Amino acid sequence: MLESFVNNKTIQKRNMLLQAKLFPFFRVIQDTVGNNVFVSGKKQIMIGSNNYLGLTHHPQVKEAAIKAIEKYGTGCTGSRFLNGNLELHEELEEKLAKYIGHEKALLFSTGMQANTGTISTVCGPKDCIISDMENHASIIDGTRLSPASVFKFKHNNMESLESTLENTKGKYKKTVIITDGVFSMTGVIINLPELVKLAKKYNAIVYVDDAHGIGVMGDAGRGTMNHFNVVKDVHINMGTFSKSFASIGGFISGPKEIVDYVKVTARSFMFSASMPPAAVATVSACIDIVQKDKSILKNLWSNVDFMKKGFAEINLDTCNSETPIIPINVGDDLKALQLANFLLEHGIFATPVIQPAVREGQALIRTSYMASHNKEELAVVLNIFAKAKKLFDLPEAIR
Ligand SMILES: Cc1ncc(COP(=O)(O)O)c(C=O)c1O
Repeated sequence: MLESFVNNKTIQKRNMLLQAKLFPFFRVIQDTVGNNVFVSGKKQIMIGSNNYLGLTHHPQVKEAAIKAIEKYGTGCTGSRFLNGNLELHEELEEKLAKYIGHEKALLFSTGMQANTGTISTVCGPKDCIISDMENHASIIDGTRLSPASVFKFKHNNMESLESTLENTKGKYKKTVIITDGVFSMTGVIINLPELVKLAKKYNAIVYVDDAHGIGVMGDAGRGTMNHFNVVKDVHINMGTFSKSFASIGGFISGPKEIVDYVKVTARSFMFSASMPPAAVATVSACIDIVQKDKSILKNLWSNVDFMKKGFAEINLDTCNSETPIIPINVGDDLKALQLANFLLEHGIFATPVIQPAVREGQALIRTSYMASHNKEELAVVLNIFAKAKKLFDLPEAIR
């Protein structure tokens, strides 16, 4: 009965990599101190997290979380729908809507749930979804749960989007275009101005998953739509708190009509316990801090600039990233796994991205930077990558 689990291809691949000491996932972090983590007792510079603003250890953020626990306890023990609706949740929704520039916002307990719950309910069987080919897994799962017809367009390719819109024109009651704002593995920013123009031309709804844009892009981290000045042209904006906002949870924002509808129809919202008080208070404090302390985003972008220039000097291929996510093109899966080990041995925590997350021959080391990194730490990282480039014969940037 258990054989099918043991014989499963994924588990066999995992076992093979474990045996070869090349399984770089589920690394146990023993402690986190500032920008460092400890793995097997060894201090590592963390360049593999999504803590872009570096706020997970900010004293004001920790104090807000502790105060919330003291007042409301550790959990809500129920969904917002029933017994788990605190005034903290309602206040954060109002604060978020104002911050984002949308009429209303709705909290979910994770970003994954925000996507699966919203995407599965905004379209009916007579509607269609057009989704970027490299969208996040939670979007894909949302489309799988949806009764709508689903089409994909080539990654960030507006010609491909337009031809899909043309082919589906007049055949469906409603069309929803879904895209990541900033793509999680490559740091690529979607061509949102063009996408929005096409949406207007074909009368489509625009849904942006800005998990990696919120807190990072635009004025005071208001996100990718703010960066491109198209806030009013994006109908549904989705974000997560598990990255810049140092917590866990997710949200959507948009017009009252859509948000109210999702609130009473999205199953992942209605049938799951609400965000715990400490998580809500953390997000609220992060939004205050990023708006007030301009030095945070200044440091972040200065660090991004420093690393991009540094990688260019070493002549590594960073896949034209324009954000704090800076992937290093490696190519071969095995080489990426070996390189991840090499980095760890040299005190750098970064994660490899291999098949099926990317196509064959496109393996990466995903690196990402925080506002709290200092230039000395970053110089150490560049130095190790310079050594790795020679040792692993890493691909050069095509200029
Ligand atoms: C683009 C994108 N969307 C959604 C999610 C899901 O967010 P959460 O971690 O809050 O479930 C992630 C997280 O990895 C993501 O990268």
